[in-house]
Amino acid sequence: MRVGIDKIGLFTPNKYVDMVDLAHARNEDPNKYLIGIGQSEMSVADQTQDAVSMGINATMKYIDRIDKDKIGLLVFGTESGIDQSKSASLFVKTALKLKPEVRTFEVKEACFGLTAALMIARDFVRVHPDKTAMVIGSDIARYGIGTAGEVTQGAGSVSMLIKADPAILALNDGHSAYSEDINDFWRPNDSKLAMVDGKYSTQVYLDFFSKTFADYKKQKKLETNDFDAIIYHLPFTKMGLKANRLAVADQDEATTEKLQNSFDASKQLSRRVGNIYTASLYMSLLSLLENGNLPAGALVGLFSYGSGAMGELYSGNLVEGYEKEVNAAGDEKMLKRRQKVSVPEYEEIFNTALDDPEDNEELTSDDEKGTWYFAGTKGNIRQ
Ligand code: CAA
Repeated sequence: MRVGIDKIGLFTPNKYVDMVDLAHARNEDPNKYLIGIGQSEMSVADQTQDAVSMGINATMKYIDRIDKDKIGLLVFGTESGIDQSKSASLFVKTALKLKPEVRTFEVKEACFGLTAALMIARDFVRVHPDKTAMVIGSDIARYGIGTAGEVTQGAGSVSMLIKADPAILALNDGHSAYSEDINDFWRPNDSKLAMVDGKYSTQVYLDFFSKTFADYKKQKKLETNDFDAIIYHLPFTKMGLKANRLAVADQDEATTEKLQNSFDASKQLSRRVGNIYTASLYMSLLSLLENGNLPAGALVGLFSYGSGAMGELYSGNLVEGYEKEVNAAGDEKMLKRRQKVSVPEYEEIFNTALDDPEDNEELTSDDEKGTWYFAGTKGNIRQ
């Protein structure tokens, strides 16, 4: 029985900053951001969008096309959690009117959280093939105004339905995992901003990719050339480009071109949305599905990385008709609906979002009708 991704939805908030504007404001050459980092725009979340609301909005992209009663598991991966105790998934479950019998909880290991959720979901469906599982990754990347990491911020969520006989990507057995207890990126409980040793984090990412890719190929008796695409967690697109260069380092021209083209297709959304931590790898997948022109059966390698640090390489095959399950025009419309904000406007939104609203202060959203948002707290209960 093949189990895998049957539905996928992306949400990003309705504001963005242009990287050329940000470069000018920070006295940097725009090409550092556009080429050196590989980002052209960055989504900005105001106070009304948080991990929960974005997760609901991402799931709304496909909720009308599934049988909600079959969902037996809902796992939410995030490093932008909104409560130290209660799972973000419970808010989602209520908003989407899922049945009470669903098992639901939140997982955390930095950007690895959605991959962890996906693997739990895959195993759940294998044991309960008549049920489905929903997994959501949702994050706001905040490093701080004027920091080196600022250009690698972003906000958004990816939600996926996992089931037997999936319509998009059938996951293969096996994986290669690698972890080490290190301090490349972390966020203490009392901080809304991430702390990071940026250069070190990029070295560890590449090291974990090399290790897991080599081990996975060995385990599965695969050659690099067997892959039709390798996609990556993209904290910024240059990071994936560097990993992809390692992947093709000893390959012939045809393989190099094939994997470069598929990488280029997979980075399009990330270039405009920015880092969405847990969901970034799955935004690469969506971008590949929308832009890659790959045939059914194509073998896709997926590299997940979560700082702290955890890496995992696994693979899947595209399913016949997968193109019908994505909506490139709809995603383009969502990106186009975003309002461009100036750097001073973004800074104000950023600083406001660092503070929680006063209890009983009602927040209102300027997003389009039907978009879920955080409306503030009443008696310290989130609305
Ligand atoms: N034209 C073209 N390229 C230029 C340029 C110009 N005018 N000026 C500079 N560049 C290039 C540089 O040569 C460099 O390229 P290489 O990396 O290929 O050498 C690139 O632009 C970046 O320049 P710097 O290294 O000087 O950039 P920086 O010191 O400002 O920091 C960063 C870059 C470390 C990535 C920083 O943005 C950061 O800390 N980001 C957050 C951490 C991060 O995302 N780490 C990724 C791995 S961890 C992870 O994946 C988990 C997660 O999601 C956080």
